[in-house]
Amino acid sequence: MSDLKPLFENNRRWVMERLLDDPDYFKRLAELQAPKYLWIGCSDSRVPANQIIGLMPGEVFVHRNIANLVVHTDLNALSVIQFAVEYLKVEHIIVCGHYGCGGVKAAYENKELGLLDNWLRHIKDIYHDHSEELETIEDPKGKMDKLCEINVLEQVSNVCHTTIVQNAWAKGQNLSVHGIIYDIHNGLLQDLSIRVDNPAQLDNIYQMMPQKKVA
Ligand code: CO
Repeated sequence: MSDLKPLFENNRRWVMERLLDDPDYFKRLAELQAPKYLWIGCSDSRVPANQIIGLMPGEVFVHRNIANLVVHTDLNALSVIQFAVEYLKVEHIIVCGHYGCGGVKAAYENKELGLLDNWLRHIKDIYHDHSEELETIEDPKGKMDKLCEINVLEQVSNVCHTTIVQNAWAKGQNLSVHGIIYDIHNGLLQDLSIRVDNPAQLDNIYQMMPQKKVA
């Protein structure tokens, strides 16, 4: 407990500041969360979702893992997406990568890291699929930056390929999936101009015809 004392002190100060601004702050938040955004980002401690986009608690639903991956067998990520889309009715899913991502860099290298290698393998596969383009880039930093960007693009596709997102579109739900990237060197977000909001934008093989529910 004493190891965590500074954190508790920070917490008490934060609560006091919130209550000074708005005495009903926690009462209101406790009753309802209605975020418009689902953020899927990297666990990297330098990429905190709320602070980067200037949103308060209650305004963004967050899922983070190493290298902001959306793997179609990952029950954790899929459950987050389902809850956000079907129950919270978020309007935007944001996949945010970041330059200087340690996960992406580790995947590029050939060092064995343990269990983690199974997770990073997804990025190795992305490198393999895009190796022709990536290997034209000689500057190592440029190559890593490009791999971080391609990873965002691939994860946006993975989100869109889920039946969760495609069913939402079939029901006419207003839902867009975006790809953006954060630069840890200057704190700036960059729009990668990746925005998907209907199944016609997906490769045919991934398009699903949602099942009609029998009444
Ligand atoms: Co990272």
